[in-house]
Amino acid sequence: MLKVLRKPLLSGLALAIVLPAGLSSVSAAENQPVSALDAAVELDERYAKSFDIGAAVEPSMLQGKDAEVLKRHYNSLVAENVMKPINIQPEEGKFTFEEMDKIVEFAKENNMKLRGHTLIWHSQVPEWFFLDKEGNKMVDETDPKQREKNKKLLLKRLETHVKTIVKRYKSDISSWDVVNEVVDDNGQLRNSPWYQITGTDYIKVAFETADRYAGKDAKLYINDYNTEIDPKRETLYNLVKELVEDGVPIDGVGHQAHIQIGWPSIAEIEKTINMFADLGLDNQITELDVSLYGWPPKPAYPTYDEIPASEFDRQAAHYDELFKLYEKLDDKISSVTFWGVADNHTWLNDRAEQYNDGVGADAPFVFDKDYNVKPAYWAIIDEES
Ligand code: GLA
Repeated sequence: MLKVLRKPLLSGLALAIVLPAGLSSVSAAENQPVSALDAAVELDERYAKSFDIGAAVEPSMLQGKDAEVLKRHYNSLVAENVMKPINIQPEEGKFTFEEMDKIVEFAKENNMKLRGHTLIWHSQVPEWFFLDKEGNKMVDETDPKQREKNKKLLLKRLETHVKTIVKRYKSDISSWDVVNEVVDDNGQLRNSPWYQITGTDYIKVAFETADRYAGKDAKLYINDYNTEIDPKRETLYNLVKELVEDGVPIDGVGHQAHIQIGWPSIAEIEKTINMFADLGLDNQITELDVSLYGWPPKPAYPTYDEIPASEFDRQAAHYDELFKLYEKLDDKISSVTFWGVADNHTWLNDRAEQYNDGVGADAPFVFDKDYNVKPAYWAIIDEES
């Protein structure tokens, strides 16, 4: 069937659809949902000249509709959870690769790139990493000699963790989030057990180990959220600059981009990308979602039982500005990954459960919960931009 779909105006006007002669067009077309599988322009094709378009997935999403949408619109994947320390090495020396292997298999079959997320993090990490040989918490140790021993043991564990994973996926993974969220919102280095026990050595050792075992063309990233917000941005910048000056093998900064319709500003995002590019580093957008809500959701920000159409238009306007910026900076950004595929699966809804009695389901992506395209999709595939 000949079907030409054009980007509607953001106010929600009907799609212009050309149907074969004999079929009535306007009335049939008006407000008719368009499946992500039928939408003419594939996201990864649209941005092929600029950067990869990725999605975070669970292995369960490698079949059915998710899989079809992934194949059509994305050319890069990252594991939403299964590569995190608690999943991949729940007990010391017991690595569980089966789930990650499924994602690697799917990516290979469909000629997609892979990001590795995440080697070292303070969250979703099993406690055994931070216990000494007697089972005591290393952070509580006061004896300087024992603290030194603990530090060595923890760095050894870190090395084994990084080496085992990176070696296994050496020929599959092209970018690694080596460390995640090492700076706190208050502008201090995060006071995690990693930091309390090793200082900043864990960051250096993680990069050096990843570099030793990663594929020759693989790129190594430091990944964080709110990278556009001072004082966190400034601290991250100073840390990264120091790593570069010390010859630590870091290739770039991963900006998670868990953002909101009105925040942060496009100007701050642009400034951030340019700051890190000026250090000679690449940038990747690693966990993009554009929440309809502010944070925390209650009581400061209202949420909706039924999201008004006007909010999807506002979201589209923001996506439009964002992707125009990414495209403008495409020599400084090599990959843009969404933290999900469609609105039916997003960590933001776990947040709604946790903080808001389940009220206020979010809808942060360009495909809706039924895998139909949203105004944000039309906004970012705008071929005139
Ligand atoms: C952070 C982590 C991700 C994920 C999100 C929420 O951004 O880097 O792995 O856990 O939080 O899902």
